[in-house]
Amino acid sequence: MNRRFLVVVALLLLGAALAHNVTILSDTPVNREVAMLLKWVLAFSVVIFGGVAGFLLYTIVRFRARRDHVPGAAGEALPAQFHENARVEFLLTLIPLLIVLLLFVLTAQALVKINRPIAGAMPVEVTARQFWWDFKYPDEGFRLSSEMVIPVGRPVEVKLTAADVIHSFWVPSLAGKTDAIPGETTYNRFQATKPGNYYGYCAELCGPSHANMRFRVIALDPDEYQRFAEAYRAYQAPEPRTEREARGQQLFLQRCAACHTVKGTPAAGVIGPDLSILGNRVTLASGIMENTRENLIRWIEDPAALKPGAQMPAFKGQLSNADLEALADYLESLKLEGFDFKALPKY
Ligand code: CUA
Repeated sequence: MNRRFLVVVALLLLGAALAHNVTILSDTPVNREVAMLLKWVLAFSVVIFGGVAGFLLYTIVRFRARRDHVPGAAGEALPAQFHENARVEFLLTLIPLLIVLLLFVLTAQALVKINRPIAGAMPVEVTARQFWWDFKYPDEGFRLSSEMVIPVGRPVEVKLTAADVIHSFWVPSLAGKTDAIPGETTYNRFQATKPGNYYGYCAELCGPSHANMRFRVIALDPDEYQRFAEAYRAYQAPEPRTEREARGQQLFLQRCAACHTVKGTPAAGVIGPDLSILGNRVTLASGIMENTRENLIRWIEDPAALKPGAQMPAFKGQLSNADLEALADYLESLKLEGFDFKALPKY
């Protein structure tokens, strides 16, 4: 009895030691709850696996066939025969029941904690569309697309909806998934604890470019965020500095302004992403590729070639190479000076 007791204690300690090593990628309130649950589940899993595998091994070794043993030989005593053992059955029902109950209570508690509105959280209105993300900041009075900028250390309350079909907002390192549903508002509350460039994904099959519907969350130190928010509130797109940029601006206002917004210009379309600070963006086309000049031109030439189902028309054949270069010059000039999001660590 004592030895068996010791084995169980040893297994419990092993489970606890393994579970203790669970590390979380980003120490946010949501991840803390998930890690807490994971520790419990892992601890029970180790104990149960150890127990079952241990008994199995013991039985295999202890009751293995012996070379000199003839099964059913005369005079061989039969092993104890019984149909059921009420005490064992009771225990094997009760123990899993208690484990499941405990996990249920812990999970329910975690869910309540995660879904509670947080006083002082920064609201961001997020709209999911085929196949990109739009971020409106009601308190700041500005709008960003594809890359959501937030301060570290302050909870963010994402108010989520969708413009067309169901999508799902997912930033694995910061928060769990929340569906974005047309005509409804859902909420996802999270908080970044260190500056970084966090990968975001759409997690609900939403059309041919579901897998290309990504985004980024750019988390900045509070002071840096404050500096960004103030600068972006006051931002007006810079005037073209070269002839090519001027040509690019002219093309942009003719061809792109019906769908895209650039603050400080007549371009105020809202069907497509806000391009006011495209020059600051780390990625293009909602997180699918690096923001480089080459990619920008490839995108303008034929968006659907890179993102099947993209609604932006192709400009291949409509714009000369010189026009494309001019447009790229102009778009690259759209930036807030003094911010480099590309240098942030990626999570
Ligand atoms: Cu949007 Cu998948």
